[in-house]
Order: sequence, then structure tokens, then C-alpha cells
Amino acid sequence: MAASPRLSRAEDVVLGVTGDLVEDVVVWLAEPLRHGTDARARVFRTPGGSGANVARFAAGLVPTRFLGCVGPDAPGDALVAQLAAAGVDVRVQRAGRTGTVVLLIDETGERTMFPDRAASALLDDIPLAWLDGLDLLHVPAYSFEGGPTAATVQTAVRQARQRGILVSVDASSTGMLTHYGVDAFRALLADLAPDLLLANAAEAALLGPAVSPRTTIVVKAGADPTVVHLPDGSSVEVPVPPVADVRDLTGAGDAFAAGFLASFVVRRDLESACVAGHASAARVLTSPGATTDGP
Ligand SMILES: Nc1ncnc2c1ncn2[C@@H]1O[C@H](COP(=O)(O)OP(=O)(O)OP(=O)(O)O)[C@@H](O)[C@H]1O
Ligand SMILES: [Mg+2]
Repeated sequence: MAASPRLSRAEDVVLGVTGDLVEDVVVWLAEPLRHGTDARARVFRTPGGSGANVARFAAGLVPTRFLGCVGPDAPGDALVAQLAAAGVDVRVQRAGRTGTVVLLIDETGERTMFPDRAASALLDDIPLAWLDGLDLLHVPAYSFEGGPTAATVQTAVRQARQRGILVSVDASSTGMLTHYGVDAFRALLADLAPDLLLANAAEAALLGPAVSPRTTIVVKAGADPTVVHLPDGSSVEVPVPPVADVRDLTGAGDAFAAGFLASFVVRRDLESACVAGHASAARVLTSPGATTDGP
């Protein structure tokens, strides 16, 4: 792949992440949902948004900048402060109202989401200065879903490519891809030609192989091995260490992306990046939402 010949050190590189910054309201059901009446539950408020999660998890590993949009409101202030407290260099536009996602997690860990992205879809400018010094720009596919953010992020990806910044895209969800149109999304990927595409097995199956001659595809499969497909047709399989007491998979993919990219941007080695991604993901599987501290 198109890796920079320069050998980097962790303190020299900057990982850029664009995407959603929202509040998650996470409902852990303690009994089966019964439509039309109450069900016992624990409810947690946690910071969320795929892009912001990646930035928050990565900031502990490598210098990280977040580019996004929240509302000029108290929830927006709190989310920005939380990201900054995690060590993220936060660059946000303020518009509209801050988004919220309600996540229903049943007793088996199965997740049902009710996303209201609100301001996350209203990003209408990524100033060139926000790209200054980045080594890699990561973009969850949710950013392409709609609103001004979709075109803004496409422009930023093209500007990043022109400046020699590596680009990574996360396929986000089969629901998002279906909504966007699978053929349309494949065409977008062929056009943007990211260096890396991160996808889970279902997303990868939906998108099909070889999205662009430049793109390495990293396919996660939960507890099963991660498979890296290189543009030359070869592949590498990296096993996932077992994790006990998995309760809430929310944020697993984002934490994987954070560990993977923080490693890759420094070492440019796909296999050790997967190992780092698995270690990062393991930390969120027993906590509500995209958090690591337990319930
Ligand atoms: N049951 C599990 N046991 C151990 N590790 C797991 C398990 N499920 C997920 N993981 C870890 O989380 C990573 C990402 O999980 P997954 O394959 O579910 O991706 P994803 O579907 O993109 O996640 P998300 O739903 O958060 O977007 C895996 O590569 C693995 O490291
Ligand atoms: Mg995912």
C-alpha cells in the first residue's frame, strides 16, 4: 500500500478523525422487552458518535485531532469538554442542536439503535488548517449519509489525498450502506480510493471485494479472526484473543479502529495494527456504550 517511507515515532504523528459527536443513552434491559408496558433496565448516558469514539480511544495512544460539529448547547459543551479531557485536539463547528442516539441492549448483548445525528450532519466546512500536520484521516461512512457533512467530508478526503495524508474509511453499518445504496457506496469508495477500509464481515460481504486498486480491506468478525485483504490479492489472518463476560458490543468497532490506526500510523504494519485493534476493542466489551470503565 502507499505507505510513507518516513519512519515515525508516536509523538511525531497526528491521527485525524472526522465524524459524529453525540450523546448516547444506553439502555441495558434486565428482562425481555414487552411492547406497550415497562421493562426493568439500567440506563446510562455516555459520550458517543462513531468518529468521536475513535478519537477518544486513540488519544491515549497517539496525538489525535477530532473534526466535527455539535450544537451550541450544553450537551455540545459537555461532549467537547469530555473529548478534550481525553486528550483530543478538538476542532468543532457549532450549529443546530447536539445529536443523541438511544441504544437498546438486550440481555444477550444484541443492540437496537435509534440514531438522531442532528448537528453531526451539519458540518459545512473543514478549514484546510484543520488538516495541517495530519498523517492519516479516518472517516466513518456515517459521515457520508446526509446533510452538509457528506459533501464537506468528501472534499476533506480529496484535500487530504492531495496532501499525502493517508485516508481510512469505516463501513459503519449494513443499514447505512443499504440506505446509501451499495452500488453508490462502491462508486464513492472507487472515487475516494482510501488507503484502508475497515468493515465487519457483514459489511464486507455486502460491499464485495476490491473497492479500489489502492485499498487494503480490514475485515473484522467479532471473536473470529480479523482478515486483512491487500490490494495485490494476498491476505493475512490475525486471531482475536478471547474476552470473558461480553455484555455490550457498542463501540467495539470504534475501539478496534482506534487501536488499529494508532498503531498503523506509527509502525505501518498491518498485523501489529490488528493486534493493537483487538486489545483496544477488548476494553469496551463489558462496559455500557463506547466506554471502558464497567457499568
Ligand atoms: N465476542 C467477542 N469476543 C472478543 N472480541 C470481540 C468480540 N466481539 C467483538 N470483539 C472485538 O471487537 C472487534 C470489532 O468487533 P466487530 O467485528 O463486532 O466489529 P463491528 O461490527 O464493526 O463493531 P461495531 O458494531 O462496534 O461497529 C473485533 O475485531 C474484536 O477485536
Ligand atoms: Mg463497525
